[in-house]
Amino acid sequence: MKAVIITDFGAEPLVTDLPVPEPGPGELLVRLHAASLNPFDWKVADGALKGIVAHDFPLVMGSDGAGVVERIGPGVNRFRPGDTVYGQFMSLPYGRGSYAEYVLAAEDGTIAHMPDDLPFAVAAALPTAGVTAYQAIEAARLDTGQVILINGASGGVGQSAIQFAALQGAHVLATGTGDTAGHLRELGADRVVDFAAAPTAEQVLAAHPDGIDAILDLVTQPGGDIDALAGLLKPGGRLISTNRAADPDALAAREIHGINLVNDPSRAELQSLAALAGAGKLRITIEAEVPLADAPTAVARARAGGSRGKTVILP
Ligand SMILES: NC(=O)c1ccc[n+]([C@@H]2O[C@H](COP(=O)([O-])OP(=O)(O)OC[C@H]3O[C@@H](n4cnc5c(N)ncnc54)[C@H](OP(=O)(O)O)[C@@H]3O)[C@@H](O)[C@H]2O)c1
Repeated sequence: MKAVIITDFGAEPLVTDLPVPEPGPGELLVRLHAASLNPFDWKVADGALKGIVAHDFPLVMGSDGAGVVERIGPGVNRFRPGDTVYGQFMSLPYGRGSYAEYVLAAEDGTIAHMPDDLPFAVAAALPTAGVTAYQAIEAARLDTGQVILINGASGGVGQSAIQFAALQGAHVLATGTGDTAGHLRELGADRVVDFAAAPTAEQVLAAHPDGIDAILDLVTQPGGDIDALAGLLKPGGRLISTNRAADPDALAAREIHGINLVNDPSRAELQSLAALAGAGKLRITIEAEVPLADAPTAVARARAGGSRGKTVILP
């Protein structure tokens, strides 16, 4: 099978041939029809989890994917050959990932059946970005009319987060530049903050001098300066970082709840997101669809920034 691998931390992704794996007890072999790219994929390849989780090389890149069950191993009850499934397939200790024609998954892993009406590309684009957006907005505990800033709203997580926050009845401030403003408003942003025009915190403070209720920060990296954003929150406000940039103890001293979110999808969450997407209630913007052979180039493009939605890889 064709797969995109790295041979060591920091190595360039390569398209190569690997044997099609055989499902063992409790495992299924999935023929992937689509995978999607997340920043996590290249952060892992760079060694983000080195020393924390075992890695087996060559390591197939990628987490999210959707496809059809080809074969099942002994003891698998929940899935049958021919079922359509999607979810997170990355398993670093076994070198498994979703940028490939086939992948093995554990029956009790982070996978679920796909609804009939969902295209493979959309299902593949959902798991990490969609669930992170959903869990982050849940963590924000928004009441109707409360104000949330989504910093980094123009990318894969942000675009779904805008929609979940709007569904809660929140007033949504979304960062974006001129090229994305119209689209972010269509998704439910009440105001687009052009972060290229002036610092985001200054613009939000000018519009909301009494403070806002919550921030989903998708931009600040670990050790980065989150102070100006935190200063926008009212006492009791909630700051959710997807990049471990929040210091909950330091924020608590300022009466702010700091949360470092790590997505942890349940099967029920995967299924309800897919149902929302299938019904057109959650819009997933697919920015680009690329063949597997072009995945290394797509990874390089993603590293450079400028994401406007999800990149889908077609094996
Ligand atoms: N903890 C978790 O479970 C989890 C899960 C998913 C994602 N994440 C992390 O969350 C972050 C977002 O993920 P994603 O999939 O949405 O990434 P993405 O698709 O690459 O989107 C990031 C967006 O942020 C924008 N951006 C960059 N700098 C900005 C700034 N200073 N102000 C405002 N916007 C800015 C980018 O636009 P420009 O490049 O044009 O500026 C891009 O549209 C990543 O760091 C990812 O690793 C964590």
